[in-house]
Amino acid sequence: MNTPIRMLFVGDIVGKPGRKTFKGLIDSIKRKHDVDFVVANVENAADGFGITKKIYNELEPYVDAMTTGNHTWDKDEIINEFMNLDKLIRPINLSPLAPGRGFTILNVKGIAVLVVNAIGRIFMNPAENPFFALDELFSLYPNVNVRIVDFHAEATSEKQALGWYLDGHVSAILGTHTHVQTADERVLPKGSAYISDVGMTGCHDGVLGFGYSEALERFLKGIPKRLKVCKGNLKLDACIVDIDPDSGRALNITRISEPL
Ligand SMILES: [Fe+2]
Ligand SMILES: [Fe+2]
Repeated sequence: MNTPIRMLFVGDIVGKPGRKTFKGLIDSIKRKHDVDFVVANVENAADGFGITKKIYNELEPYVDAMTTGNHTWDKDEIINEFMNLDKLIRPINLSPLAPGRGFTILNVKGIAVLVVNAIGRIFMNPAENPFFALDELFSLYPNVNVRIVDFHAEATSEKQALGWYLDGHVSAILGTHTHVQTADERVLPKGSAYISDVGMTGCHDGVLGFGYSEALERFLKGIPKRLKVCKGNLKLDACIVDIDPDSGRALNITRISEPL
């Protein structure tokens, strides 16, 4: 009988302010909550758009796995580097020709922990069916009970549907991408922790981590100004999930939104 393991899952880290918030808080959060492993979504870590090798190296000491999403390929250099960056994964349900891996298996205190990234299809770019892609992956690892899913999706309906579909088959289904933390965290009846969106790490005085004046140009004038990361009201949004390693069931899920 193994003792429960505790995961900290950090919502999308946005740009330099997000990295500053993350690095400024992560050690104290880990200590305070006695965290066993950390997963963070890094799709916006490089100036809001994608990830670079340099930023991977900057974040790597603090995390066990990094997930991404629709911004995975925004920085050209990452396309060739992806396979060399052990902790970095991209959505599993992309083209079979896409570089990189959609999942990783961690060793947490001797327990195998599968972390997988999937991307939604509603109001998103074309992708393969995430439900079937996850089924296929889990069928390959029937003995890995602890399974964490970062479901990077826009529509709450798709997120909730995947939550119910996977309930009892995974430890946690955690939504990312919309950058706003939702208040619907719960452990579903068959033992999977669920939240529609974990939120984001960085500036909370803007629009999804970006300055509102550029966003307003788009909405008021229809001019697609390049968005710039904002700097105010820095917070780290995350969820803490306790998992029974023997059954893979989640025991609880707690959301946090910690100011820097
Ligand atoms: Fe994001
Ligand atoms: Fe996204």
